[in-house]
Amino acid sequence: MNYHNLHQILILALIMSMSACQPEQKQPQKSSTNFDTQVDSLLSLMTLEEKIGQMNQYSGFMDFTGPQPKEGQQAQKLEHIKKGWVGSMLNVHGVENVMAVQKIAVEETRLGIPLIIGFDVIHGYKTISPIPLAETASWDLEAIQKSAEMAAEEASAAGIHWTFAPMVDISRDARWGRVMEGAGEDPYFGSLVAKARVKGFQGNDLSAHNTIAATAKHFAGYGFAESGKDYNTVDVGTSTLHNIINPPFKAAIEADVKTFMNAFNVLNGIPATGNAYLQRDLLKEKWDFDGFVVSDWDSVGEMIDHGFAEDGRAAAKYAVEAGSDMDMESYHYIEQLAGLVNDGEVREDLIDDAVKRILKVKFELGLFDDPYKYCNEEREKEIIGQQKFHDQVFELAQKSIVLLKNEKNLLPLQKSGQKITLIGELAADKTSPLGNWIIAAEDNSAVSVLEGLENYEANNEIVFEKGVDLVTSQPLFSQQLVINETDSSGIETAVAKAKNADVVIMVLGEHGRQSGEGRSRTSLDLPGLQQQMLEAVYEVNQNIVLVLNNGRPLTINWADKHIPAIVEAWQLGTQAGNAIASVLYGDYSPSGKLPMTFPKNVGQVPLYYNYKSTGRPAPKNENEVFWSGYIDSPNTPLYPFGYGLSYTKFEYKNLKIENNYEANAKVKVSVELKNTGDTKGKETAQLYLQDEFASVTRPIKELKGFKQVELAPGETKTIDFELTNAELGFYDNDGNWLVEKGSFKVYVGGDSETTLSKNFKI
Ligand code: NOJ
Repeated sequence: MNYHNLHQILILALIMSMSACQPEQKQPQKSSTNFDTQVDSLLSLMTLEEKIGQMNQYSGFMDFTGPQPKEGQQAQKLEHIKKGWVGSMLNVHGVENVMAVQKIAVEETRLGIPLIIGFDVIHGYKTISPIPLAETASWDLEAIQKSAEMAAEEASAAGIHWTFAPMVDISRDARWGRVMEGAGEDPYFGSLVAKARVKGFQGNDLSAHNTIAATAKHFAGYGFAESGKDYNTVDVGTSTLHNIINPPFKAAIEADVKTFMNAFNVLNGIPATGNAYLQRDLLKEKWDFDGFVVSDWDSVGEMIDHGFAEDGRAAAKYAVEAGSDMDMESYHYIEQLAGLVNDGEVREDLIDDAVKRILKVKFELGLFDDPYKYCNEEREKEIIGQQKFHDQVFELAQKSIVLLKNEKNLLPLQKSGQKITLIGELAADKTSPLGNWIIAAEDNSAVSVLEGLENYEANNEIVFEKGVDLVTSQPLFSQQLVINETDSSGIETAVAKAKNADVVIMVLGEHGRQSGEGRSRTSLDLPGLQQQMLEAVYEVNQNIVLVLNNGRPLTINWADKHIPAIVEAWQLGTQAGNAIASVLYGDYSPSGKLPMTFPKNVGQVPLYYNYKSTGRPAPKNENEVFWSGYIDSPNTPLYPFGYGLSYTKFEYKNLKIENNYEANAKVKVSVELKNTGDTKGKETAQLYLQDEFASVTRPIKELKGFKQVELAPGETKTIDFELTNAELGFYDNDGNWLVEKGSFKVYVGGDSETTLSKNFKI
């Protein structure tokens, strides 16, 4: 090593050690700063081994968010950090733990390059927001952004630099367990939610002490796993890839997302991790993404199981050539890449490109100014679990609730003189409302529905009865859960206690660990014996309010036919029970709208509102069989995308179009929205567009705008939308945006089945 290099190392080490002593005094650096010079000079000091080390990520010693490691691997990890063979750790959290590993990287390696610490901060760190699908049902982008901001604030206080969120995979298949983690089925809405979440996590200044880098995942197609089975094969055409799957990823880049995660699945025969078309041609070239791509957990190694790479060496080569910059927990980069480069099988400039991308994000985070920037135990204590976060997740939980049905004036509940029987194991469950992906949150830390109702300022008698068990034991994050399918002994007591109640509230649905990664289902019915219990209770008392707790759309046909009031309360996080009580008592009028279609039966799945017409969309004559439908089920959903009721009623009228396309490429759409009920309420007015004839067929309608308005009883407001080329076009089969002249139909209303429409031409 020459003197010049050594000198640079010393200066670097000095700067880092100085700022390490004064973590709070550093000047924040804008994330827009170009760090190319610093990155290049650091890279010039690095050996091949050290470079490859930066591309290696290990899971820590605390939690496993993937299969258990092989024998002996855990023990090696600290040694590898010391050798400079590790660029990042995941699943290490809490100031003390992060400090411990960071110290080794900074103080014991030759160059002292700090680790970037990643974690799955999906919907909160300790204070848990509604699951992402539920948050999306609020249609409140500002609140969704604030939820990510809060998560970043808590996670950064626990030493974390980087979250593996948001998951921006569009999915149309409710069987897939991970629909809970996304923004539902629509690419337009999903793109806006993706932006909101990225902005929330990253803020305006990535080097600030309360922002963290975000990850757009899983690139690409993971939400289209065949038959909804997690990790399964994905085969989609180019039109679906460009128009449905990719838009939220592009939107994340527009919001300056710092990292991408690739996916476990094969896409049209090529594993996403080894897919150069996705990662190099599209992401890094066409979309000009300058952050880095992390693989999913061992997805480099899983290319062997896919039958794509014959061994770890081939897997490492394919992955790095395809543009996967960092290897999560497969060990193949650290074990194979140096040999591959030395043997001339992998070009070193590919390694350099990957390392530069990784280092750049570390610089942007401010880790070279202060590798311990998030490591302040005082701050950790002060920030995590603050009351203001509880208030925030309470409000978001209220907004996320969707009223699916309300007859017999059962809701809102009267505040006094009522005998209310509350039934269901989930009603008293303090863990399930947290949903999945709650690695750092404590079990039993949510407010249950029972607590929410008991603590509410109301004067009713609440009688709780668990009824049948839902699960036979409480599983850990990584364990299969066992549903009770046999012991119906709780039903009798539930029925007895329901008999004389004025109102029966039944909290039914899915256990919190019944959705999420690895939790696909072949049935979307209420699990276990809950349906049986619901029907038995209905026999003796029909005044039932069904409160659903679930991580995905469920098939609740029977309930929809018989139960007068149904509230979709998802898994609403730490403040779930309080939010549900406030909605049931009418102190918050429900305003959520479904971000995913609810099917009538699982055979209809994948079911989504923006489908293509087909050549035979409807029967021409009565009893016709030769059309695109089923002989045993209608095509229509139980509840459509965008659907949700309120305690008041809204009326849409006077839809108008001002077509200025010739003059300024704008089409203005306006509608009058009136609150015709007798309470105030918030409505999400939605605009859908159909490009009636196109060179690549378009869906029967597509969401292209929405506005939220609050209206007092009797109040009317005019709502305006604007359609420009950004809304009027679509991606052709090469992924290029195309606006074709011709006729369009615009629909405006309170859900995707609205019929209020007008035509125009451009
Ligand atoms: C696997 C999941 O697919 C991914 O989303 C997650 O971030 C990683 N495990 C790390 O936990």
